[in-house]
Amino acid sequence: MKYLVTGVAGFIGFHVVQRLTSQGHEVIGIDNLNDYYDVNLKLARLAELKTDTLFKFIKIDLANREGIAQLFSQQKFDRVIHLAAQAGVRYSIDKPMAYADSNLIGHLTILEGCRHNEIEHLVYASSSSVYGLNNKTPFATSDSVDHPISLYAATKKSNELMSHTYSHLYNIPTTGLRFFTVYGPWGRPDMALFKFTKAIINGESIDVYNNGDMQRDFTYIDDIVEGIIRIQDIIPQKDVDWNVESGSVASSSAPYKIFNIGNGNPVKLLDFIKSLEKSLGIKSNKNLMPMQPGDVYQTYADVDDLFTVTGYKPSVSVEYGVEKFVRWYKDFYQ
Ligand SMILES: NC(=O)c1ccc[n+]([C@@H]2O[C@H](COP(=O)([O-])OP(=O)(O)OC[C@H]3O[C@@H](n4cnc5c(N)ncnc54)[C@H](O)[C@@H]3O)[C@@H](O)[C@H]2O)c1
Repeated sequence: MKYLVTGVAGFIGFHVVQRLTSQGHEVIGIDNLNDYYDVNLKLARLAELKTDTLFKFIKIDLANREGIAQLFSQQKFDRVIHLAAQAGVRYSIDKPMAYADSNLIGHLTILEGCRHNEIEHLVYASSSSVYGLNNKTPFATSDSVDHPISLYAATKKSNELMSHTYSHLYNIPTTGLRFFTVYGPWGRPDMALFKFTKAIINGESIDVYNNGDMQRDFTYIDDIVEGIIRIQDIIPQKDVDWNVESGSVASSSAPYKIFNIGNGNPVKLLDFIKSLEKSLGIKSNKNLMPMQPGDVYQTYADVDDLFTVTGYKPSVSVEYGVEKFVRWYKDFYQ
């Protein structure tokens, strides 16, 4: 099959492409290579991908309406895995417009491409951040998600709404995946594991928010990739029996679905740091800091739906995953 994967120079996109090409699929990957974090890391991921003849890279911005429309009409993709976005909760406080361009306009250009080109399935990245002010755990896709607390989360919730509209109007099968704190080799420099590893190795202190009183449902990259690969084979169908009163909010009469992909096992931030210290063989110095605006106290995925539909649920332990990350980090930055 021929895939469009967006955000291929990014952390998750890079891993997804490797998996698709290893299965013999042809992949056109796009990315704008923006400098939100170290561009050299993005280029290094791309250099790895480019060794594969089944992969072709095109540098383009999602917000380039004509360019994206042309890409779709020229390439004739079977399926789309849309992962490019302006990520990050804290950055959305300083640079809100980046989220409007990449996550709102950008998502719409992809939907328009699907609308005009008979795409079999659009799978796109949403986020656990859509659960916002929700206190009930675990977070289930049947819960209301109308109270985001960062613009990033609001754009991800918007992506789900926009996708529903296009699924309904144009019969485009769409599946939104709410990822929970993804980590692993080739991970993102703006995320805790990367920042902590770098600081500890350099003998610097680490900033620990909410005095360490936080829990995250850390999900290892291989589990996320497995979830994406399985879900993209499960194409949502119209369901004439569905109605708003009795149906799940994660599905619809339109060919539209939402799933959580998380470990389903929240880990205390201080325990996560202990795993990292063990892998590095170095103790950390912690700056205990207040809660940051936009951050939530806990994330915890209910993955029952994912398991029911795919027979799969994430299972990699933090000890294993952190060790794999540390090995990659030391090797890459030597
Ligand atoms: N990593 C996580 O923990 C996590 C959690 C929840 C959701 N997500 C979502 O998963 C997706 C992938 O995340 P990631 O961790 O790989 O992030 P990433 O930042 O490493 O990858 C995103 C890629 O998209 C590209 N991009 C951004 N804006 C673009 C634009 N306008 N045009 C073209 N390319 C653009 C970036 O250059 C980057 O390479 C994102 O949608 C993100 O919001 C990630």
